[in-house]
Amino acid sequence: MIKKVLIITLLGICLFYIGSFASDHRRQIVNFINEVTPPKYSSNNPKISTVSYPYHGPIISDKDTEEFNSSSYFTDDRPPPIFKIDDTESLRSLNLACQPEIYGYSIDQGDVIFPRHGYPKCPAVTNLNQSYIFVDTEDDKLYMNCPGPYKGRFLFGPTNDKKLVLRNEIEDFWQVWDYDEPEPLDEEVEFALGSCDSSKSAYLIQASMNPQFNKTAYEYAKERTEGKPKIIFMLTLDSMSRRHFFRKMPKTIDFLNSLNQNESDYWAFDFKLHNILGPNSVGNQVPIFGGKDRFVKTFKGDQNIDYLGEKALWNILREKGYISLFGLENCDNYFPKSLGRKPNVDYAINQFFCAVYKYTDYKFDKEAVLKQRCLGAYMTHYYPLNYTYNLAQMNQGVNMWLYLHLNGAHEATGLHAETMDDDVMDFVKKFLTDFGKDNDIIMFLHADHGMRYGNWYKDLPAYQENKLPGLFAIAGRQFIEQNDKTYSVLTLNTQRLTSKMDLRKSILYLAGIKENTKYGVNLFEEVAHKGRTCEKAGIEPWDCSCREMKLIEEPDQELEDFILRLADQVQATINTESYASKKHDKNIICEKIEIKGVENTYNFQISNVEEFFKLEMTVKHYPKVKFQANILVSSQYSDRFKYNDVKYMVEHDTFRKAPIMIRILNISRLDKYAGPCELKAIQAGLRGDTCICKEGYKKEK
Ligand SMILES: *[C@@H]1O[C@H](CO)[C@@H](O)[C@H](O)[C@H]1NC(C)=O
Ligand SMILES: *[C@@H]1O[C@H](CO)[C@@H](O)[C@H](O)[C@H]1NC(C)=O
Ligand SMILES: *[C@@H]1O[C@H](CO)[C@@H](O)[C@H](O)[C@H]1NC(C)=O
Ligand SMILES: *[C@@H]1O[C@H](CO)[C@@H](O)[C@H](O)[C@H]1NC(C)=O
Ligand SMILES: *[C@@H]1O[C@H](CO)[C@@H](O)[C@H](O)[C@H]1NC(C)=O
Ligand SMILES: *[C@@H]1O[C@H](CO)[C@@H](O)[C@H](O)[C@H]1NC(C)=O
Repeated sequence: MIKKVLIITLLGICLFYIGSFASDHRRQIVNFINEVTPPKYSSNNPKISTVSYPYHGPIISDKDTEEFNSSSYFTDDRPPPIFKIDDTESLRSLNLACQPEIYGYSIDQGDVIFPRHGYPKCPAVTNLNQSYIFVDTEDDKLYMNCPGPYKGRFLFGPTNDKKLVLRNEIEDFWQVWDYDEPEPLDEEVEFALGSCDSSKSAYLIQASMNPQFNKTAYEYAKERTEGKPKIIFMLTLDSMSRRHFFRKMPKTIDFLNSLNQNESDYWAFDFKLHNILGPNSVGNQVPIFGGKDRFVKTFKGDQNIDYLGEKALWNILREKGYISLFGLENCDNYFPKSLGRKPNVDYAINQFFCAVYKYTDYKFDKEAVLKQRCLGAYMTHYYPLNYTYNLAQMNQGVNMWLYLHLNGAHEATGLHAETMDDDVMDFVKKFLTDFGKDNDIIMFLHADHGMRYGNWYKDLPAYQENKLPGLFAIAGRQFIEQNDKTYSVLTLNTQRLTSKMDLRKSILYLAGIKENTKYGVNLFEEVAHKGRTCEKAGIEPWDCSCREMKLIEEPDQELEDFILRLADQVQATINTESYASKKHDKNIICEKIEIKGVENTYNFQISNVEEFFKLEMTVKHYPKVKFQANILVSSQYSDRFKYNDVKYMVEHDTFRKAPIMIRILNISRLDKYAGPCELKAIQAGLRGDTCICKEGYKKEK
């Protein structure tokens, strides 16, 4: 105690003299004091434990200082071995600090839960063999050649110079014109939708999209491209766990495996332990574009900007002779809000899908269950792929950074994902064949995260797959063998914990830029340590695949009482947000709910003083309704208590005689709740999922 007083006094005196330094570094100073003389309840004082079970501490392997040593690691085992869905098991012998207990559903479970649906080809669905509309971006004309007497109608876009838009910002700007003869277009026009059906209510299912060559951008890049041009391609499949890649993209996986021959021009690498960085697409991908510190979900002020600015990959790479494409197969709110409407990329795909959203019945939400997304004779993802191929063709001779984000797997049953297999495989094959001779191609075929919805969300294997997206890297053999150690390093990294910031660092490296990327490992040059933990890779504990969530099977009385107290807090929160919300008069829309019981409780420990509970709860009178809540319990204040998304209560309380803070991180629904009630609640400004409507729910007597 005397030591502590002394140190604080000394520090106080110092601080008095260097006040401005102190205000800038308050946090570090507090951390420093806590380390030297930790408070009683602190992760720096492991003698005291306030969590439900004895805490054994993080496993830090003694290999933590592992460094690449070419003579001991140099592997001549080339080509890379054939990869299979369950060869993750081979990682168990490596003594990794981060070792997931399970990597997802087993092969058998997967076959049962995700049976093959057997989608037909689009012509069999739409009865269309070909497109009757064509946007010619060379002589800027739109052509339609409808069979039959009706000549057709069309719309075109983009309608303004925003690279990204929110659906409601653009909804009223579309105009549908009658087609008469080849239509001259403005120079900016890249796409059109149309219909050959004279019925006014018919959807516009004719589509064409082609890039407008930007000569200025090309010439700028040409001056800066040195040597053989590089194409760095991030082909992103939304919501595809590594295991789901194997289940739903078998032809693509076979193709990647077929590359791994001695004489092949390309080799493919399967990163078996690739962990998410955040909960959703933007939380995972935007940090790659701009660094983790720069990531926001939304920002205030002028939205027509490039929010990532000088940190953006496209702006950094431009100076190295790269033209850029940022292409989305969706028109949702996330990327525009996080990046701003005008990320300074040379090419963008987004407005096309806003038009598709309005003028066809194909939605890209996970709620659009099982429905095949055909647009004319092709699946919707075909159009951005074709656009990208044409873009690469037009820009031969310069470097390219291409980002495509396809949504075929963004669907709640997990079955629609299979519709991407043929097209993605054909595309990748053709792209490598046609552009591989004149360019060094490095392709990351990967996912942002795994599935994170649907009624299997409550299963532990699904919960794990959500955190373990696929990452496959394809690179030219010549390129790999240019440098002695690249092959060995890549191979080792396929068996280490990797995450999103590694992609940023690696991409910058490929472009010849050294960035000391926070949390990043350059997958081509540095071996990720065996001792790498989620914390070191910048991953929050709840996003971490190797933090075991343990089912609490037989809680003692004290813990059981505590769990019920947590459930009470959840109940209060739900009622405050819905039934008693200030946004609507009591009793009009939502019922007051009462938690009936806690079915399952999962727990994991972050430290000796912090733990995380997941409760699955049933509700009195409503047998179908099931809530899940994630709750943080801690006896030390930490940054986790001001985590971005958290707006729920912090309770000061005690548990096992220690003071604790409780924060409900999230409440969600495990049953299928979407429907009229959800809409009604949302229209009233309430959260759809915490409201049990007075009407529309069967109440049990
Ligand atoms: C690399 O490994 C070899 C063989 O295991 C060993 O003899 C050598 O000292 C190591 N070099 C370094 C720099 O650690
Ligand atoms: C599609 O094309 C085939 C020949 O290529 C033709 O026999 C068939 O009638 C066409 N179907 C439609 C619906 O146009
Ligand atoms: C795809 O691109 C090619 C040019 O490479 C073009 O001829 C074809 O019409 C495009 N397909 C569609 C459906 O737009
Ligand atoms: C073409 O690229 C230049 C330089 O990147 C940019 O300033 C210009 O706005 C682009 N033109 C179009 C039509 O996008
Ligand atoms: C590649 O070559 C090595 C050595 O020549 C050989 O042992 C191996 O079986 C070959 N692998 C394949 C996939 O052809
Ligand atoms: C909480 O759950 C809801 C519904 O599942 C989800 O939309 C939201 O993103 C979650 N929030 C956080 C912070 O995880």
